[in-house]
Amino acid sequence: MHPFIHIYIILLCIISSFFNSQATDTKPQTQSSLVLGLSHVRSLYTPSMTLLNSTKYDFLDIVEPVTAYTDGYLLSLNLGTPPQVFQVYLDTGSDLTWVPCGTSSYQCMECGDQHSSSKPTPMFLPSQSSSNTWDLCGSRFCVDVHSSDNRFDPCAAVGCAIPAFTSGLCPRPCPPFSYTYGGGALVLGSLARDSVTLHGSIHGIDPLSPVEFPGFSFGCVGSSIREPIGIAGFGKGTLSLPSQLGFLGKGFSHCFLGFRFARNPNFTSPLVMGDLALSSATDDGGFIFTPMLKSVTYPNFYYIGLEGVSFGADGGSASTMAAAPPSLSGVDSQGNGGVLVDTGTTYTHLPDPFYASLLASLAAVVPYGRSRDMEARTGFDLCFRVPCTRAPCAAEDDELPPISLHLAGGGRLTLPKLSSYYPVTAVRDSVVVKCLLFQRMDDDGGDAGGGGASGPGAVLGSFQMQNVEVVYDLVAGRVGFLPRDCAVRA
Ligand SMILES: *[C@@H]1O[C@H](CO)[C@@H](O)[C@H](O)[C@H]1NC(C)=O
Ligand SMILES: *[C@@H]1O[C@H](CO)[C@@H](O)[C@H](O)[C@H]1NC(C)=O
Repeated sequence: MHPFIHIYIILLCIISSFFNSQATDTKPQTQSSLVLGLSHVRSLYTPSMTLLNSTKYDFLDIVEPVTAYTDGYLLSLNLGTPPQVFQVYLDTGSDLTWVPCGTSSYQCMECGDQHSSSKPTPMFLPSQSSSNTWDLCGSRFCVDVHSSDNRFDPCAAVGCAIPAFTSGLCPRPCPPFSYTYGGGALVLGSLARDSVTLHGSIHGIDPLSPVEFPGFSFGCVGSSIREPIGIAGFGKGTLSLPSQLGFLGKGFSHCFLGFRFARNPNFTSPLVMGDLALSSATDDGGFIFTPMLKSVTYPNFYYIGLEGVSFGADGGSASTMAAAPPSLSGVDSQGNGGVLVDTGTTYTHLPDPFYASLLASLAAVVPYGRSRDMEARTGFDLCFRVPCTRAPCAAEDDELPPISLHLAGGGRLTLPKLSSYYPVTAVRDSVVVKCLLFQRMDDDGGDAGGGGASGPGAVLGSFQMQNVEVVYDLVAGRVGFLPRDCAVRA
């Protein structure tokens, strides 16, 4: 179903074990350490504001503030009438949007610190929304969430008679579903329909006003394994948020602010859907474009090709580029390979032996000693003891080489240094430890015999998209990247 979302889950575990080890550490935390905690965004709607009617406008753009969380980026969802507000992960690697929901408290197994009984998870209360209904067994969303090839299955499961379901008129609700993210993580729920209210602008020039999209289909989730909050699915499937709202004929963009702003309510960054997302993304504007690749097996996700990686301030010339294996530069006829652009994965994952060779070349050019201690504690593969005699020891001042991704089509994306290396300790004895925040792609391990990897060859994660505007141009079939400062003062 969603064979590669397990990466996201594994990362949550890695991160939470990292933070758990930090939390039990009695040494003071540095400001530049990664921080835990949800940033609470006020609801921007007041009942007196007039709602734009989304069905009336062809030239509607949506602009939403996105905040940094510990391991990803959050979007604020206003669901129901009156709106109930939820912070959910923005995930381009899945389709379903869901929120904790129901009448009893939310059950989350293996959710660690993010889910404690002392601070109950906010839940959507369907009974408190005058516009809430349950999705019916015959709806395309119900068929999709049940991953059924037979559109009558869900109605058959809830006992509709043949005349009722073949006429499409069976009035019974969509049966409860489980939505699997792999690695044993899943959510259990029922499909609800309600209004979702976002910030819209006509032609992208008028001031933002609330726009209501009635009948949005989402998961009302009562229990999960390892899914503590909620998710907005931004894939290309029927259920995804941009698909339901009608933006997949155009596109969308995000520009993630730095993780250092996690838990800081004063800064957000924009998510844009509609023409406005595409109009700013031009070659003249400095964007680096690469074709959006198609996977026959996983058609709902965004793939690009990676030709190689280089290190160095000049971005590296072709001669110093380490060439990526063919499995990363394209998607094969079975739909495997390529690089998945996935905001639901924290760090970029590259496969061995390519990844191991990059680590070796990097270790050979970096003039600093390794911190094996922090490597062991954080699970990152390369951590360096970087001298810091004068705070704040900005990324530009160290000699860690910038990392460039050479994309299919010839574009070269040089990542901001803080999107590649991150300080994981306070400055102590004039040294700060900075780790490379890339990780090894797991072998899928699903098929016996090691007969080749299925799924994407690599994953571009949200950490490497910090301070890079990323445009998903579904008109031209390309993905654009532009490094820039994404933080907006709220
Ligand atoms: C929005 O406009 C459509 C078409 O003009 C109309 O059918 C619908 O009732 C309107 N909805 C609201 C909430 O005004
Ligand atoms: C946010 O801004 C307010 C007002 O300027 C300030 O008092 C507060 O410390 C800021 N919060 C953070 C986390 O920087």
